[in-house]
Amino acid sequence: MLQKNLSSLVSRLSSKPKGYFVTATGTDVGKTFITALLVKKWRDSGIDAGYYKAALSGAELRDGKWVAGDADYVKRIANLPDTQEQLVSYVYKEAVSPHLAARKEGNPVEIAKVQADFKAAYARHEFVFAEGSGGIICPIRYDDQKVFLVDIMKMLDLPLLIVTTAALGSINACVLTVEYARSRGLDVRGLIVNRYGCSGNLEMEDDNIRMMQDLTGLEILAKVKNGDTDLGVQPF
Ligand SMILES: Nc1ncnc2c1ncn2[C@@H]1O[C@H](COP(=O)(O)OP(=O)(O)OP(=O)(O)O)[C@@H](O)[C@H]1O
Ligand SMILES: [Mg+2]
Repeated sequence: MLQKNLSSLVSRLSSKPKGYFVTATGTDVGKTFITALLVKKWRDSGIDAGYYKAALSGAELRDGKWVAGDADYVKRIANLPDTQEQLVSYVYKEAVSPHLAARKEGNPVEIAKVQADFKAAYARHEFVFAEGSGGIICPIRYDDQKVFLVDIMKMLDLPLLIVTTAALGSINACVLTVEYARSRGLDVRGLIVNRYGCSGNLEMEDDNIRMMQDLTGLEILAKVKNGDTDLGVQPF
């Protein structure tokens, strides 16, 4: 445990990130909600932060146009100037994993385009928050090429922020996500607890949070309640 704490501290002190990759213990845990607050906080503090997502499935049809809900939400909350095409590289209609959506709709994710679009996001902003799709092992493409979200994380080379809840089952989901990320050589910088207090059992949630901290050696960077409009932390 001491070794984990030390290595996490050393990596934090040794490099100042140019962005973060926001992932979560699963889908619908609150990546977009939290990322919007992060981008807004950075921008309100005078840092030109942007947003990028490689692949989104489950687009919404609005006025004849397929809208990528995640990007649209972050753009609105954080007041971003970017277009949808700049914010998301691949938009699929069906709300299934990108690998299945691409199999049905065509247009599979090309790693080179993700890299180029992400680089372009850096040309427009000084700091970029990238949001994952689903959880860390989400299949992005599974045909003659096999690409998982974790491969995109490796390629973009950003430290990770992991969004979790403190609800029943969160210790297992959170520790597995952190351990898998580390086994792939990724730099996990901290945890963000979303929907804190939602279970109605604060004694359990607080113990879950202590357990997640202790088992991973990671800091809880923020505890976000339902409906919060501010993260309650300064840019880190
Ligand atoms: N703290 C919160 N307060 C209020 N609503 C929240 C909060 N966290 C998440 N939500 C809502 O819960 C839903 C799921 O959250 P969100 O879209 O951020 O999840 P996600 O992890 O980005 O999902 P996906 O894997 O589809 O990208 C959304 O409607 C979002 O607005
Ligand atoms: Mg999302």
